[in-house]
Amino acid sequence: MDRRNFLKVTAATGALVAISPSTITGRLYADTNILYQTYEKVQLVDASGVAIKASTLKKETNYVFNYPYVSTPSILLDLDTPTVQDVTLKSEDGQEYIWKSGVGAKRTIVAYSAICSHQLAHPTPDDSFLQYCTKDKKTMAYEHGGVMVCSSHLSAFDAKEGCKRLAGPAAQPLASIIIEVAADDTLWAVAVLGPDKFHEYFQAFKPEFKKYYGGKREAKNLVNTSAKMVTLNEYTKEIIQY
Ligand code: FES
Repeated sequence: MDRRNFLKVTAATGALVAISPSTITGRLYADTNILYQTYEKVQLVDASGVAIKASTLKKETNYVFNYPYVSTPSILLDLDTPTVQDVTLKSEDGQEYIWKSGVGAKRTIVAYSAICSHQLAHPTPDDSFLQYCTKDKKTMAYEHGGVMVCSSHLSAFDAKEGCKRLAGPAAQPLASIIIEVAADDTLWAVAVLGPDKFHEYFQAFKPEFKKYYGGKREAKNLVNTSAKMVTLNEYTKEIIQY
């Protein structure tokens, strides 16, 4: 029995219980006090529905897929350089959690919820203020590239360290999307680690949900089975980055 299939969770009472992730709907703290919420395990596929292989990812390229809800964008990256392991991160309200590392053969693949932890800027089909800035590019948000940047108010996050905050008004990291690379090199999203902004997001963007998804209720549907993943250039009309 692997850890993903049967995660041991400490409930609020302190009792240790085993719960199948597919049945978990509430927020839970893992037995190591990690803020961790499992969702349906979904496969990342291209626009034609074909499974994407980890080894085919372009380096330092923003890939977007919606997870865990059909309307919540996430960004996946192959950073092309090793990630830091066992990073201690802290949420706005002081909850500490551990980001283990990137995944893949060289631990260079990471994924984050692309909803800014400051005021919820995020990629839409029309524009994007939040994305990764490659190492060779300059950003006004930080002293060097190779970071996630939110150009709405210039927050920067360290993509190789669990998206911990580096600069700007954001008070906490971006939440991480937990990715698994299967033996056949396919990619799967399985959970969210860290403080997500989904609740605030669903309160804030009603007209947007109507425009893109048919309404707020539809926007709150969970992704199941597979999630389409495309480059940010394909996902949005305009990328705004300072
Ligand atoms: S919304 Fe991202 S920095 Fe303000």
